[in-house]
Amino acid sequence: MFQGKKIILGVTGSIAAYKSLMLVRLLVKEGASVKVIITPAARDFVTPLSLSTLSRNPVLTDLVRDDNWINHVDLGRWADCMLIAPLSANTLAKMATGLCDNLLLATYLSAACPVIVAPAMDEDMWRHPSTQANLERIRSYGNTVIPVEKGELASGLNGEGRMAEPGSIMSFLQAHLEQNKQTSDSKFGSADVAIRQDLSGKRALVTAGPTYEAIDPVRFIGNHSSGKMGLALARALAERGAAVDLVLGPSSLDTDFPGITVKRVQSAGEMYEACLERFPHADLAIMAAAVADYSPVAVAADKIKKNGDTLILELKRTKDILAALGAQKRPGQVLVGFALESAHGRDYALSKLKTKRADLIVLNSLADEGAGFGIDTNKITIFGSDGAELPYERKPKQQVARDIVDRAVKILYA
Ligand code: CTP
Repeated sequence: MFQGKKIILGVTGSIAAYKSLMLVRLLVKEGASVKVIITPAARDFVTPLSLSTLSRNPVLTDLVRDDNWINHVDLGRWADCMLIAPLSANTLAKMATGLCDNLLLATYLSAACPVIVAPAMDEDMWRHPSTQANLERIRSYGNTVIPVEKGELASGLNGEGRMAEPGSIMSFLQAHLEQNKQTSDSKFGSADVAIRQDLSGKRALVTAGPTYEAIDPVRFIGNHSSGKMGLALARALAERGAAVDLVLGPSSLDTDFPGITVKRVQSAGEMYEACLERFPHADLAIMAAAVADYSPVAVAADKIKKNGDTLILELKRTKDILAALGAQKRPGQVLVGFALESAHGRDYALSKLKTKRADLIVLNSLADEGAGFGIDTNKITIFGSDGAELPYERKPKQQVARDIVDRAVKILYA
């Protein structure tokens, strides 16, 4: 994915600078050419020698080296992407105001490529209104911010502000590469194809995967959902800056994509509880899980032994999560559901729009080639409560997810 890509990695003075070593290694391993620029403060945290050895390029710090002026304009034009990780509160403030007292900032100001930053700081600094205002400001300039994580911080406290892990940053970069490929035939990108971050400050709720309804301690009723579509939706929302709560059934898939908090559940009942708790805080909710419609009336305490030739299980209806969210939806909240049908898809999709009070229903028909469980593509038609009916081509699921998020965002900002 990174083969032939030219990346400038900016490293600033933060304890998270040690993670930049792993980042360089991962980027180089994936085929990228990496040039590292560090701020003077970063030298206290990581050595230029380690970074130059891993990147196979000299590490740049000063605007002038010996008698040579380092051409930051050329550097900014050379790169397909500039990644600043970690981004300290200090460099962030300088980026927000246009201050330019080192090579990293000079290169940033003259960069013609997309700039992606991964902030790292202590929770109190992170929450300070000036930090948040600065982040908003650099976003408004077209830069992309990778969400911070919650966890143990250098201060010993636990909270928000940790830099995303190198693996997550790689996933984020990869998503941006893909999206830039869709929006531009040119190299990785130029500032005018920077990824929209129009969901920053918004919360989204997504369900994904199957549910398992226990019959006894070893058996369950399940379905073939892989969770791929829901995960792709969570990623598409996070790419645009949303904080995503992903309620994920028992799928073999997982995600470490920045901005996605995963809540694992097993049964339809657990998924219902998790969604009802989170929906009041959500601006947007997309129900992509294949939730069981029925579950056993009673779960046997011991393994059921085979006795007769037949076995009758009594099942009861599960609670419909989408309908429950529809019933309590506030003005301004956007709710999206799915309909997977084998016949009369249009009629069922239209009736689900009404009965579940959804704003959009995404129909995928089992009759269509390239749609359905476990595969990497999908073919959808989106029905809107405003009467719109939009058929799409068969596409990879990640791209389908971006189409769905596009429609939902249009309603959110209508
Ligand atoms: N859904 C839900 N909670 C349930 C069942 C379904 O939230 N207990 C959601 C799914 O995530 C999906 C939509 O509802 O967004 C699917 O609607 P549903 O009526 O379950 O579809 P079918 O099971 O296909 O319905 P029917 O039996 O009416 O064909």
